[in-house]
Amino acid sequence: MPPATTPPGPLEALGPRSWARPEVTGVGREPLGTPLGRPDEVRLDGRWAFALRARPEDVTAEDLVGPTDGWDTVEVPGCWTVQGFDRPQYTNVQMPFPGPPPRVPEANPTGVHRTTLTVPEAWRGRRTTLEVGGAESVLYVHLDGVPVGMGKDSRLPQVFDLTDLVEPGRPATLALTVVRWSDATYLEDQDHWHHAGLHRSVVLRSTPPVRIADVHPTADRDPATGHGRLDLRVGVEAEGPGPRGWTVRAEVAGHRAEAPVHFEHPTDVMATWLLFEGRGATLALDVPDVAPWSAEAPHLHDLTVTLRDAEGEVVDEAVVAVGFRRVEVVGAELQVNGRPVLVKGVNRHDHDPRRGKAVTAASIERDVVLMKRHGLNAVRTSHYPNDSHLYDVCDRLGMYVVDEADLETHAHLRSLTRDPRWASAILERVVRMAQRDKAHPSIVMWSLGNESGSAPILQAAAEWLRAFDPSRPVHYEGSIGFALFTDIAGGTFPAMGELLHRPTPDSDVVAPMYPSVEDITDWATRATPDRPLVMCEYIHAMGNSCGGLADYWEAIRTHPGLQGGFAWDWVDQALVQTLPDGTERLAYGGDFGDEPNDGPFCCNGLVAADRTPHPSLLEMAKVVAPVRVRAVDPARGVLEVHNEHSFADLAWLTPSWTVDVDGEVVASGELAPLDLAAGARDELRLPVPAPDLAPGQAAQLTLTFRTREDLPWARAGHVVAWEQVELDRRPGPSVAPGPAPEAARGHAALEPTLALWRAPIDNETFGPAVGTSHAERWEAMGLRDAAARVGMTTEVVAADGGGEVVTHRVDVPADLDDIPRVGVRLRLGPGIRTVEWLGRGPHEGYADRREGTRVGWWFTPVDDWPVPYVHPQASGNRTDVRWLRLLDASGAPLVVIDHLDGLDVTVARWTDEEVAAAGHLEDLPVRDECYVWIDARHRGVGSGAVGPDVSPEHRVGPGPYRWSYRVR
Ligand code: GAL
Repeated sequence: MPPATTPPGPLEALGPRSWARPEVTGVGREPLGTPLGRPDEVRLDGRWAFALRARPEDVTAEDLVGPTDGWDTVEVPGCWTVQGFDRPQYTNVQMPFPGPPPRVPEANPTGVHRTTLTVPEAWRGRRTTLEVGGAESVLYVHLDGVPVGMGKDSRLPQVFDLTDLVEPGRPATLALTVVRWSDATYLEDQDHWHHAGLHRSVVLRSTPPVRIADVHPTADRDPATGHGRLDLRVGVEAEGPGPRGWTVRAEVAGHRAEAPVHFEHPTDVMATWLLFEGRGATLALDVPDVAPWSAEAPHLHDLTVTLRDAEGEVVDEAVVAVGFRRVEVVGAELQVNGRPVLVKGVNRHDHDPRRGKAVTAASIERDVVLMKRHGLNAVRTSHYPNDSHLYDVCDRLGMYVVDEADLETHAHLRSLTRDPRWASAILERVVRMAQRDKAHPSIVMWSLGNESGSAPILQAAAEWLRAFDPSRPVHYEGSIGFALFTDIAGGTFPAMGELLHRPTPDSDVVAPMYPSVEDITDWATRATPDRPLVMCEYIHAMGNSCGGLADYWEAIRTHPGLQGGFAWDWVDQALVQTLPDGTERLAYGGDFGDEPNDGPFCCNGLVAADRTPHPSLLEMAKVVAPVRVRAVDPARGVLEVHNEHSFADLAWLTPSWTVDVDGEVVASGELAPLDLAAGARDELRLPVPAPDLAPGQAAQLTLTFRTREDLPWARAGHVVAWEQVELDRRPGPSVAPGPAPEAARGHAALEPTLALWRAPIDNETFGPAVGTSHAERWEAMGLRDAAARVGMTTEVVAADGGGEVVTHRVDVPADLDDIPRVGVRLRLGPGIRTVEWLGRGPHEGYADRREGTRVGWWFTPVDDWPVPYVHPQASGNRTDVRWLRLLDASGAPLVVIDHLDGLDVTVARWTDEEVAAAGHLEDLPVRDECYVWIDARHRGVGSGAVGPDVSPEHRVGPGPYRWSYRVR
């Protein structure tokens, strides 16, 4: 609490210490409605004067209206935490400050943002509103020092009526004061960076005094008849009693309807008291044979709504994009337009490596385009409503959206949502989200929030959504987690298959997080599913991860009721940090001196912070691709093709095939688009030749589906799906092509050492949540010094054709169970620039994450071989390698290693010890030498930081190992 002597500051004109009173959620705010595109608006974005005060109590009346000479400036929209003030802070479960709720820290950075606005003359006599798109975490609005209002709910707009405070043509002083920590922070305890400031646009808007206040379309389409129906409620507002004889007209897809506007009930006062349902008009429109909206074919129609006065003159107009579609839970199916859809989804946080939470429209668009290009069709707005632009893009490009309210009480999971002081805030967050976002066809489910337990107010919120909007199911994981922890606290660990069958009154779908493949299979087979299961989070993409993705999809494709899920998550939340010497690095929790913090746990992206795809995204693209290909009789060119779309046929894709022998194409062809309806399978016969193979060679058939034409999210020729099958293979050692190095060096010169350890990946450092991590176990086993634990015998014989054939033998003792690898590390001299190899590639692959790699002849600069994960860890493994050549800058081979029997190979300029010791990429040494690891067996990567570990068949156990290769 502040010292008792602190007099109330000007922020308290809007309520005493309202930043620490959960029952105060907003003062003077307008209700939210569907964003209506209107011509009369002025964006106030740009550089604003800025002063950071240590506490809300320190803000003075002078700050809100006095001169700003000598003040700093910040960019709006923007977070002051990435503009040189205060600091960002990353926490996962724990709160960024000590409680108990609703206590907030005494040191509570408070930013006063100041600008001048002038309402245009043309707006005289009209209504002027101010929309603040996003303020973390409490906003106070003053105009010319006069308090206008305040509000919480960081990720939704706050709208205030300025009409009576502005004089057109006269400059007015706008002060937007943001208090960083508040009672609301307890509801916004998501696993992400806590920033502060005005992270979305600030907009001034003008509407006529009698105006369209809201548009609520429900655009349904009967999948059986194709008949569309638009039910429309148009809110109309006016000062005072409102005029008579006005109408609303709606037009969509060439159809039109008109209805009278009521400002009271049309009959008598009694009826107004008892029957009147609000100001505005209710309309309905039939649209026969309307093209449906789906993520596969997002047909949108402009709905034009006009408000007309008694003479029929248009007074106000709004245009809203609508899509006719039906979303339903039917038995164990989540259906869109009468068909089950597989949810190929990803969770997305707002994140920009330089701007923090202030993401631009371009970056939102790029995210969705990248998702579409990688076969994803769904996004969960974890864990808060996004800028409206995200939903506009998803409407337009076609993505199913789970829209999530800004609610996570993780550090007080079971208590806060049951504390009545927060009840109205919780309900209000859900209501405000639905009020703003209800018109978007892309939103297929509402989500109450994340990790906030189970509570009467959440059930109330779910019921409110169901009643307000019967056209969308409700999604929420909380009651599953609640039941799980209740059981565990009671001393039992439930079978997940049983637990997931329990009722979830606050969710219409079963939405667990991080179940294993066994868990969801158990659920699907233990009893007949009566609802669909859509994993709200699965496959945790932290660092080198996402092992086992293909196994999930095998289960999803096999068992009715399993309908996909949302990967965790889209983008690494790394921030660019400038170091004292002026260089930049990618930073994570703690790097800014932010305490407490959760270190690099924020870097879980399928894409890096700059949106470079991680290998896990390439795996995702392959695994979820909508065309599935299976080998039937590959030698005769017979494949089965399955069109996995829910609606589309394959006319939009051009198939082509190649046959290659060890990466060299020997035959190829292009086909006409396949005539295959959604859901259908058919056999395809390709005229493949019988390739001529030398000993050790293999032939591969690859079938690829590319877009035929340019699309809004991809150019013609973009690869949507592919499959590679082995046609034939001749036994014998694989021989690297090309010349051998001129200067002969014996194998011994490469200093071979046994390798049983790898620099732990994040899954091995952070997981499991309870018990010893693999990294700790391996430390205790003494694996770093493998030679001290296990003996290796090495046999070297001169090889035909030059070089030496090397054979290693190791007997891994029984106490070294589940270790990272069994292999050998070779130390290569300086001068190597490029690696060429025959094997799976071109990107990193592991035993449990190699679906997205394919056999070929690849090359890469040595420096690009490892993946630059923000938090250094083992990376860069390639599987099924048969030969590799290490070349100098002129392309001449310095070392050639072949006769490999499809082994795991890693190349790096650093040792595992160096990688493990590094906190950041720039901690790694710069050197010209490199190392090559040749592993008889290499552990998978799993998803174990919060999900399942590597499955048993991809672990490395005790026993005898023998592997060999030729070095030249
Ligand atoms: C989940 C949570 C996510 C994230 C993830 C771990 O429990 O919902 O927000 O924290 O774990 O990265």
